[in-house]
Amino acid sequence: MLPILITGANGFIGRRLLDDLSSRPHYEVTGCSLHDDLCPRADAYRFLQTDIRDICAVEKLFQEICPAVTIHTAALSATEYCETHRREADRLNIEATAILAACCRQYGSRLIHLSTDFVFDGTATHLYRENDEPQPVNYYGETKLKSERLAASLCPDHAIVRVEVVYGTPLPGQHGNIAQLVANRIRNNEEIFVVSDQLRTPTYVGDVSQGIERLIESPRRGIYHLCGKDEVSIADIAYRVADVLGEGHSLIRPQTTATLPDKTPRPLRTGMSIEKACRELGYRPLSLEEGLRRMFS
Ligand SMILES: NC(=O)c1ccc[n+]([C@@H]2O[C@H](COP(=O)([O-])OP(=O)(O)OC[C@H]3O[C@@H](n4cnc5c(N)ncnc54)[C@H](OP(=O)(O)O)[C@@H]3O)[C@@H](O)[C@H]2O)c1
Repeated sequence: MLPILITGANGFIGRRLLDDLSSRPHYEVTGCSLHDDLCPRADAYRFLQTDIRDICAVEKLFQEICPAVTIHTAALSATEYCETHRREADRLNIEATAILAACCRQYGSRLIHLSTDFVFDGTATHLYRENDEPQPVNYYGETKLKSERLAASLCPDHAIVRVEVVYGTPLPGQHGNIAQLVANRIRNNEEIFVVSDQLRTPTYVGDVSQGIERLIESPRRGIYHLCGKDEVSIADIAYRVADVLGEGHSLIRPQTTATLPDKTPRPLRTGMSIEKACRELGYRPLSLEEGLRRMFS
């Protein structure tokens, strides 16, 4: 049995990984998160409540589990919040990643570190590839880029996984995602404002899990983009959700970035290429329509 540690196991991506990997007979999965288990299934995995900013607590965790693979999803990822709470963002996104990466090296654990399309400035005229120069435009992106560099320098056996606009069904208590938010508002007959000039390659949460499982089984190191294959605007995502639900578009109000009340800088076009992940890992994501159908079926 391969011991696997998942940080941020109460989070949206962490929970999906916890559920998927603990259903495999060959993994022994431990989840850790700041708060206690959101949805306990004691027969399937271990859960250890841990603050990963605390170096002693993380060392204790590694002594106890000796993970062969550590999947690091815990992060402060609310872009607007990071902009105004920089010290808090540094402590979790940068400093805790350094603590984990150092423990991974000491205990011989492979580190799979989650990152974001927001490391890019959104000015490219093509889908971003792994070797394109990052240039974050907001503080969240800056912290994640620093975390990528620390993970790579402190832990030789590392893979950095960039995902973007991850959608799927959240558990109660988890933050929403664009597809869920749009569906909720349409079902409540409420209008929803969505940006029409920010382009993304949205990612079905099950595909993040699928790609990471391939990375667990692969010796490959470096950066991988694991996202969807369709580049669309946020407004397009809303229209597709309405289509899958069999609803009209009348409640969807497209807006441009310039007219948004939130002035946190956001990159315009951050669609990422999955060519490397498909070629080297055999990654095969769903189309946006397939992902939404799976989510709402
Ligand atoms: N979701 C997306 O669309 C998206 C897009 C791009 C990149 N990403 C990246 O993907 C990763 C996962 O994102 P996500 O959306 O799944 O995150 P999330 O739902 O916000 O979950 C993050 C989890 O981190 C845990 N956490 C916070 N502080 C902690 C601490 N001090 N010690 C231990 N755990 C702590 C929280 O646990 P508790 O709930 O127990 O407090 C929370 O559940 C992040 O690295 C993010 O940057 C996500």
